[in-house]
Parts: sequence; structure tokens; C-alpha cells
Amino acid sequence: MLNGKHIILGITGSIAAYKAAMLCRLLVKEGAEVRVVMTPLAKQFITPLTMATLSKHPILVEFFNPENGEWNSHVSLGEWADMLLIAPATANTIAKMVTGVADNLLLTTYLSARSKVAVAPAMDLDMYAHITTQNNLKTLTERGVAIIEPTAGELASGLVGKGRMAEPEDIVEQVKAIFESAKKKSLEGKRYIVTAGATIEAIDPVRYITNHSTGKMGYAIAEELAKRGAEVRLISGRTNLPTPKGVERIDVLSAEDMYNAAVREWREADGGVMCAAVADYTPVVVADHKLKKSDDDMRIELKRTKDIAKELGATKGERVLVGFALETDNEKANAEGKLERKNFDFVVLNSLQDKGAGFRGDTNKVTLIDCNGHEEHPLMSKKDVARVIVDKIETINKR
Ligand code: C5P
Repeated sequence: MLNGKHIILGITGSIAAYKAAMLCRLLVKEGAEVRVVMTPLAKQFITPLTMATLSKHPILVEFFNPENGEWNSHVSLGEWADMLLIAPATANTIAKMVTGVADNLLLTTYLSARSKVAVAPAMDLDMYAHITTQNNLKTLTERGVAIIEPTAGELASGLVGKGRMAEPEDIVEQVKAIFESAKKKSLEGKRYIVTAGATIEAIDPVRYITNHSTGKMGYAIAEELAKRGAEVRLISGRTNLPTPKGVERIDVLSAEDMYNAAVREWREADGGVMCAAVADYTPVVVADHKLKKSDDDMRIELKRTKDIAKELGATKGERVLVGFALETDNEKANAEGKLERKNFDFVVLNSLQDKGAGFRGDTNKVTLIDCNGHEEHPLMSKKDVARVIVDKIETINKR
């Protein structure tokens, strides 16, 4: 979930600094890249060696290295970060953040940061309850800083009350929620259509032609788009999946039905993701009675279906259109062909040669292909693949 996120973990001089080690480990485990900035006093509570080992980078404390004069640039750190997380945050650091005092590297980094900022206060109960601290936290909240509330319990002083830093697991959950809620609003006011699942082409009232698609990938994409605030019309072939929260589902059976629904919904849409496994051929004649067997072989004449993606691509304009390519051979060349033929902004290629990719499972291994090149991703859950795809849709939207 935090894959590739750049997090500066700021540690200040509180006994709760020992929990920063676990916090750092959890963030790294979730895929985040972590750089640790400590205040001089924090070094008394937890060693730089511990934090450097866990974050896999030297920690930063001073403005410059006195041995060689090399600067630790708070400006580039601030630009690098997706989040500045100060945990534990003392009453002292919180007060300095409010007033703009910049007497250590962590505070100058705070003033330079363009990223989200979150603080997890840790202090004695009376310091926490003090009107000054409460007013400072209120001011930070008004300025958009997320406060990860301390919990009540036994404190280092022996007193019992509110002031214990939140547990590392809870801080990680809140960090994820902050990233999620920022994403949520990003597609508000946009309408997307998603096609998903397998179509069914009737041969007679009993038999049909279909394929192995479960619809899981398309449903995960619809869910992710809705989570980020988009209005989603999910045009769904046959699946056993529940409708994702906040998504309007339109059930269809045949490729023809899916075509009609997609073309209709496309008129009002800002973008589309073509995830359905649409039959390429359908019987020329659908028998109105059950076909009887005989001793002879049988031939069913098939005709081409309409290509939904190609039709939408032809009327795309400035809108975003994403397609899928499920290939068994000559994968990249085939996917590039689709990119051009169907006028997709990018194609999500999955190869049936990769273990864990394609139909049925909960995982997928994809390569995103656009006119600039290939972006290969490791094996991931379909939900994580959906996040990667919607992230890319957002970068196209921003252009
Ligand atoms: O040409 P091919 O079927 O391999 O292309 C796959 C892409 O085109 C997928 O995004 C699929 O959803 C879409 N498609 C479509 N209508 C069809 C066939 C494919 O929208 N009739």
C-alpha cells in the first residue's frame, strides 16, 4: 500500500523514540522508502545506528557534516518527500512548528516540505492537556497537519493519562488512511466507465460460448476509481462478484449488449477502462429451441462481434481510454498494436506465460505500455494492480 512512497520519519527527544524503530521497520515492510531525520536530543533516546540500519540509509541530524562541509539539504529532502511523519513529536517540536522556529534540520525540513505532514504527539499527560499544547495542535490542524492522537495509559513518569504515542501499527494505518483520503478526492467530478467480466454468446436457449474471465481485475479497478471519488458505471458481463461500494453496475450478457451499453455510457464519460473479455465471435444464428444432437458432426457458423474499445477509441478526444491485452506469445508487439489500433492511452499487458497472471487468481503481473515505453511491475494483488493503473490514469488527467 505504501509502495514507493517517500516518507521522512522525524524523531524528536521523547522516550517514545524507541517505538520509532518498529515504526520505521513497518513502513519499510509496506514498501515505503524512509529517510530518518532526528533532532540532536532524539539521539539520546535511540541510536542513529539502529535507525540507519532499519531505514537502510544514514540518518540526518546536522545541517552539515563538520568533517567535510557537505550540506544536508532540507530543501531537496522536503521536495523528495510524499509525507513528513514526526513520531514521536514532543511539545517542544510542536510549539516550534507553530511559531516557525528553525533551529534544527527537522524543523527546517518541515518548513521546506511541500508534502503532507503528520505528527504523533508523545508527552506527559499534563503537558498534552496544557492549553498551550492544545492550541498549538489546533493551529497545526487548521494548517493541514494531520494529528495522530496519542492514547491514554501508563506514561514514563508513572502517571496514567493521555499522552502515550499511538502504537506503530496504528500510526502506519493512519499514514495509509492519509494517503487514501488524498487520493479519494482526486477524481471527484469525473465519470468513468469500466467493462469487466466475460460475455456470453448464446448458441441456443441452453448452450453458449464464453471464456474464463472472472471480472476480478475490472471490479478492482471500478472500486479504486470510486474510492478516489469518481462516478463509476461498471458494465459487467457474467461474474459472481459483489458490486463494489459506490459503483453503479449495468449487467449485460452478450458482446452486442455490452457494446450498446458502453457506447451509450461513453457519451457522458470522462474516461474508460476496457477490462472485459469480450467474445470476438458470436453465432450467426441463435436457435430458438435446443439443438438436437445427431450422429453427424456439427458446425456452428460464427460472425465477428463489434470491437467496443475501438469504437470508443475513435471518439475519444481528450478523454482517457485504457485497454487490456492478454497474450500468450509475442506479447509486447501485440500489445503495442492494440495501443495504436484502438487509440488507447495505455495498454495493460498480462501474459499467460507469467505464473500468477491473467484469469481467475487474485494476483496479476502487468506491464503498462504507452507511446513512451514499457513499465514493468512485479506480481501483485489485483487490488494493488488497480491502484497502479488508476495512478497512471491520474497522471494522464493532470496533463
Ligand atoms: O483485440 P483484443 O481483444 O485482444 O483487445 C483487448 C482489448 O480490447 C481489451 O481492453 C478488451 O476489453 C477490448 N475489447 C473490446 N471489444 C471487443 C474486443 C476487445 O472492448 N470486441
